[in-house]
Amino acid sequence: MPAVAVTRGRLTGLHEIVDVGRDRARGGYSRHVWQPAEIELRAWFVERAERLGLGVEHDRNGNIWAWWGAPGDDAVVVGSHLDSVPGGGEYDGPLGVVSALDAIALLQSTGFTPGRPCAVVVFAEEEGSRFGVACLGSRLMTGAIDPERAGALADADADGVRFAEAAEANGIAARHLGRDDAALGRIGLFLELHVEQGRGLIGLDSPVAVASSILAHGRWRIDIAGEANHAGATRMGDRRDPMVAAARGIVAVRDAAAARGDDRATVGRIHALPGGTNVIPSAVTTWLDARSARDDDTRDLVAEITARVGAAAAAEGCSVTVVEESWSGAVHFDPVLRDGLAARLGGIPALPTGAGHDAGILAAHVPTAMLFVRNPSGVSHSPEEHATLDDAVAGVVALEHVLRGLL
Ligand code: GLV
Ligand code: MN
Ligand code: MN
Repeated sequence: MPAVAVTRGRLTGLHEIVDVGRDRARGGYSRHVWQPAEIELRAWFVERAERLGLGVEHDRNGNIWAWWGAPGDDAVVVGSHLDSVPGGGEYDGPLGVVSALDAIALLQSTGFTPGRPCAVVVFAEEEGSRFGVACLGSRLMTGAIDPERAGALADADADGVRFAEAAEANGIAARHLGRDDAALGRIGLFLELHVEQGRGLIGLDSPVAVASSILAHGRWRIDIAGEANHAGATRMGDRRDPMVAAARGIVAVRDAAAARGDDRATVGRIHALPGGTNVIPSAVTTWLDARSARDDDTRDLVAEITARVGAAAAAEGCSVTVVEESWSGAVHFDPVLRDGLAARLGGIPALPTGAGHDAGILAAHVPTAMLFVRNPSGVSHSPEEHATLDDAVAGVVALEHVLRGLL
């Protein structure tokens, strides 16, 4: 077996991008869609794919496809994403893209030629870090989000650029955003390799697992409105303070999920208006991320949280609005494909995941599978996210073996 390309303790592809989008303030990487770091990664992907002789296409939703041989129907498509959360790790997304290219390079080096079309895809805005809705590129392609709504999504930062504007600035015609039957119709099967994001593979005697399911999850914006006033001149009893309501609400988010077994609920982002140290805010917005094994249980959890935040706000004389920003039902990956891959890879374990993926969006349309590579830190969406070189190489070799069987 030829060697996987390695440079200074990393897969060579990861080494080539190791400095792109480093975030000195937050730590880790901030590589948000169509901001300079992510644009640089896109250019790197195109260049690296072309070095392998792949033919690059840009679709009308911001996703990039690199074809090994002629594009065609019933293709085996492998891929992931290059964007990150703010201050994210090195592996979430890029490991899957690099491993896909490396697996093809391995196949090429043995003289293998595919018997069916094959592509590596990079999906746009998987994390939803810039425009708020995760897996935007795959949702648009599959018609899972209305293109008008997607185009109107505003940048989470203060500049408020719309997704449609960012798309136009990067060569995508906003009027052509939306379901792409031509692109979707060519996919015979989708495979995403990803760093494992919890402790699922720690202690198991395998560097690689196959995915079984994804938790049902979504994002909700919670706006709490009160009354702006002076921090010094307003007696404590005279306040309608949305920050206090938000604080009690956030504790309720944690308590509601913790009381429900293995449910998860998080507030990772908060914004106070106007945001002055000596100003009681007029409004506070928090964003809720809630996840559970079943769709109904996730909906129940959010209903309970909504009621508890509403009570906390009422006690402060504030009002609340809750808006669903995205929803992803529970995913159970194709059992035949899952078991076939696990068997081909020597009986590797099957693991559920709490993280969302483009593979979860694709699974509603085409046979889809995921491979997870062990993460010894058990931490993700953080600079601590990790995969050892040996395990990353094992992931590439596993993908190569799987592709050899499928192609
Ligand atoms: C993406 O990684 C998510 O699970 O939100
Ligand atoms: Mn992620
Ligand atoms: Mn990811």
